[in-house]
Amino acid sequence: MKYIYTGSEADTEKLGKKIGNLAWPGIIILIKGDLGAGKTVLARGIAKGLGIDEPITSPTFTLIHQYNGRLPLYHFDMYRLYDAEELYDLGFEEYFFGSGVTVVEWPERLEGYKLYGHLQITIEKDFDLGTDDRRISIDARGELYEELKKELMIL
Ligand SMILES: Nc1ncnc2c1ncn2[C@@H]1O[C@H](COP(=O)(O)OP(=O)(O)O)[C@@H](O)[C@H]1O
Ligand SMILES: [Mg+2]
Repeated sequence: MKYIYTGSEADTEKLGKKIGNLAWPGIIILIKGDLGAGKTVLARGIAKGLGIDEPITSPTFTLIHQYNGRLPLYHFDMYRLYDAEELYDLGFEEYFFGSGVTVVEWPERLEGYKLYGHLQITIEKDFDLGTDDRRISIDARGELYEELKKELMIL
C-alpha cells in the first residue's frame, strides 16, 4: 500500500487543492479519519481548488454546507447523523447524484448505503513521526477515480 505523507496543515490543504483542480461534475469524495485528523483541512483545499475563497468550516450541526465555485461544492459532515431517515430528509441523493462536487466527512455514518464510483481518503495521525504528520491513503472505485488516484499519487 502506498501512502501520501503530509507534514503540515498546508501540505494537506495542497493535496485537497489538487483534487479540487481535477474535480469533475458529480464527483464524490469521502474523507475518513478521527476528530482532528485533518478532514476539514482537506475539504478546505478542495474548495480552494474549485476557486472558492469563503472560509470552510465543518458543517457538524447542519450536516451540509454549500459553496459556489467552478462547480458547486456540497460539503457534508455526517458526524451527528443519527439515522438514515435524517439523511433522506436532507435530500442527500440530489446532492450525491447531482452535478456538483460532494465531499463527505464521517462517511462511516452512511454504512449500508451503496455508493459506486467514489474516492475514499483516509487520514491518520502518525505519532511516530510527529504531531503534524499525517499518513493518507486513497481508495478509488471506478475508472475515473482510478485515474484521479494515479494523478494524486504522482503529484
Ligand atoms: N499534516 C496535517 N494535515 C492536516 N491538519 C493538520 C496537520 N498537522 C496538524 N494539523 C492540524 O490538525 C487539525 C485538523 O483539524 P480538522 O481538519 O478540523 O480535523 P477533522 O475535520 O478531521 O476533525 C487542525 O488544527 C490542523 O491545524
Ligand atoms: Mg471536520
